[in-house]
Amino acid sequence: MKLPYAEPFKIKMVETIKTTTREEREEWIKEAQFNLFKLDSDKVFVDLLTDSGTGAMSDKQWAEVMTGDESYAGSRSFTTLKNTVKELLGFEYFLPTHQGRAAENVLFSAMIKEGDVVPGNSHFDTTKGHIEFRKARAIDCTIDEAFDTKAIHPFKGNLDLEKLDTVLKANPKERIPFTLITITNNTAGGQPVSMQNIREVSELCSKYEVPVFFDIARFAENAYFIKTREEGYANKSIKDIVKEIFTYGEGATMSSKKDGLVNIGGFIGLKNEELYRKATTFNIMFEGFITYGGMAGRDMAALAQGLREATTFEFLESRIGQVKYLGEKLLEYGVPVQEPFGGHAIFVDAKRFLPHLPQNEFPAQTLGIELYIESGVRGVEIGTLLADRDPETRQNRYPDLELLRLAIPRRTYTQNHMDYIAAALKNVYDRRNEITQGFEIEYEAPIMRHFTVELKRKETVSLNVLA
Ligand code: F0G
Repeated sequence: MKLPYAEPFKIKMVETIKTTTREEREEWIKEAQFNLFKLDSDKVFVDLLTDSGTGAMSDKQWAEVMTGDESYAGSRSFTTLKNTVKELLGFEYFLPTHQGRAAENVLFSAMIKEGDVVPGNSHFDTTKGHIEFRKARAIDCTIDEAFDTKAIHPFKGNLDLEKLDTVLKANPKERIPFTLITITNNTAGGQPVSMQNIREVSELCSKYEVPVFFDIARFAENAYFIKTREEGYANKSIKDIVKEIFTYGEGATMSSKKDGLVNIGGFIGLKNEELYRKATTFNIMFEGFITYGGMAGRDMAALAQGLREATTFEFLESRIGQVKYLGEKLLEYGVPVQEPFGGHAIFVDAKRFLPHLPQNEFPAQTLGIELYIESGVRGVEIGTLLADRDPETRQNRYPDLELLRLAIPRRTYTQNHMDYIAAALKNVYDRRNEITQGFEIEYEAPIMRHFTVELKRKETVSLNVLA
């Protein structure tokens, strides 16, 4: 008999999570104006809002916390982290920041000017925000397959070289500070980018003398997919693959809250001394002195250890295996999900789940609310609410993908929790035809509305159902 999967760790400390009743949840979500961000965490049973900063640290990381060096300048923990980043990722120059978007703020202050364009593969929201805040444009060059949840492609996070070439051709190199490769491509569903694509993007960009930078929040998960899916990499170690990735670029911004296996932190890695010097000034202004950059010494020490653990095959196989386990269970129950499964999350396709709800009634949000009421599981909408309104016309933007993201925190939940989530979604799926009302907005902020939006149930049964 083939031995079943078992988590490659045992648990030393437990945190109780409260079970709640359906009646309580119905009341609480109403009080939260049907916004999942407004729920207190003790009203949530399994929290899949994000995999960012929600993972469990190892005993070795906690040991590092106890011996971290809190010196303002020249902290030993800083040196350990800097050397670890150099050894694992190959970057000579290193600046710590308090999280990923802070790294973007510092690096982009040094590199992006008004009127610039930054091509890439589905820039993350904060990344796009930091580009647009500087009156520059983020241009999405992701391959078309990424926008079809049923299309099977091993590297759906890839950049389309023709789309990229068009952008590089249409703009002078002085207007393109860099091309940004996000690994994995979170927005497209935690989908990886192949080594071949990274190499070809790098070759194309060097023809136009445009440097390549990376957003590396989930770089280790990306390396796992290269090892397990790309020809020629099966026998290479994760660490070797990671090293090769960064030979194709000039630098990176990192949100350490994901593949750094810590609860807060970020950094910038660079190869060029002049750029490092320029970024250093902004780091000191926005983050802190260069040997802590907004992080406690103990957190830098724990991060160095976290990066080592995240770049082992054993960790990644268990982590991505757990996500896959959930995805397979959902497929077995007929629940429509993005395929292939992403590295950090399962994305449920709300357009296929609730085809009778029009997109202006927020089907992915409706599904998220139903799942919460059913089970206390909290996911997050990646759809029309998140897409905001067009800044000029003020009309709702309707994205191609209307998804409910179930992001799995690292080393936090067990296989039983995965079974629970899958059963809860199955129950909602079985009664999908009874979900005839979506939601309408009562209050919304002018941008980033999803965080604070207030909703109410649509009073009438939607027309799609009657038709
Ligand atoms: N880049 C990517 C690809 C991300 O997914 C995130 C955060 C960031 C940058 C920003 O990093 O949060 O440390 O400032 N993603 C989280 C998520 C919030 O839920 O996907 P941060």
